[in-house]
Amino acid sequence: MPLPAPISFIAQSGLMRSILARVDAIAASDSSVLLIGETGVGKELIAEYIHRASPRSLKPLVKVGLSSLPPDLLESELFGHQKGAYTSASTEKRGLFELADTGSIFLDDIDDFPYSLQSKLLRVLESRELLRVGGMTPVSIDVRLITATKVDLKEMVDRGAFRSDLYYRINVVPLVIPPLRERKEDIPAIAGHFLEMYGGGRSLRVTDEAMRSLVNYHWPGNIRELRNVIQRVVIFANGQIDVAELPAEIRDEGSLQYIIKACNRCLTEEKMTFEQVVECLESNLLGQALKQAEGNRTQAAKALGMNLSTLRDKLKKYNIE
Ligand SMILES: Nc1ncnc2c1ncn2[C@@H]1O[C@H](COP(=O)(O)OP(=O)(O)O)[C@@H](O)[C@H]1O
Ligand SMILES: [Mg+2]
Repeated sequence: MPLPAPISFIAQSGLMRSILARVDAIAASDSSVLLIGETGVGKELIAEYIHRASPRSLKPLVKVGLSSLPPDLLESELFGHQKGAYTSASTEKRGLFELADTGSIFLDDIDDFPYSLQSKLLRVLESRELLRVGGMTPVSIDVRLITATKVDLKEMVDRGAFRSDLYYRINVVPLVIPPLRERKEDIPAIAGHFLEMYGGGRSLRVTDEAMRSLVNYHWPGNIRELRNVIQRVVIFANGQIDVAELPAEIRDEGSLQYIIKACNRCLTEEKMTFEQVVECLESNLLGQALKQAEGNRTQAAKALGMNLSTLRDKLKKYNIE
């Protein structure tokens, strides 16, 4: 069997490095892992990393995207079926759990797992054996479970949308993967990684100004969005990537024009006084600078070119937290 390509997992920020250190320890154990994070933060990549670094690395890793499987097919996809279990079941079929036997199974978007099947999943996990749909004989299975969620499962449990017993069973080791905007130090390295990956051997450079825009942007789609942006700009890039080549929303975020355009009140309200317009823009600018500095007032004051006490007074005046 050929060895799979090594995983390029970039971790420059202190935050990501400490997570990576935990991932190594987690991989060595055989515990169930719950990966928690927004879309595109790298949950699937980490699941793969855990499997490859685990004692089961030479055994299969079966990935299941629960949000893309139709609920009525889910049971037989996961657990298989006997011949004749449905009119269309002309042969017996092994499910994904059986295919993952002795290896790992990655259940992505576990928050989309239908409530009606949750007790069956729990039973399989607890007893380490399953019944195929229409089957009478239990099949024993030995799998390491890795799950991922994009929402707070505890909150789903509290409002009765997710079984609490299943939640405790899958949440043995929770691992929160922070969004990219909370680990901006990773952005240059990851951008560089994708440049190399999609640059087709060309040596491409991102100008300082363009890199600043990439770092400042809030990346709602996280690393997946960064990957797509680099993939797109690389097509037209000629040696260097300048800020003009970046998509408008990235280029403009944080720029004065963007803040002015974002100020609906100034644009729509007709009877504002000069004083009110100035105050409105000023409070928007302060809010934006604080957001970009992730709440760090010293940093925000520096970006705005004012001293800290002036910033404090203004924040107080506008009631900005
Ligand atoms: N730390 C990282 N270093 C390099 N590439 C990454 C990293 N994290 C995520 N990626 C890449 O970003 C994309 C989205 O990651 P993925 O694991 O699918 O996210 P999620 O499952 O959380 O939606 C994939 O192409 C993945 O390879
Ligand atoms: Mg994913």
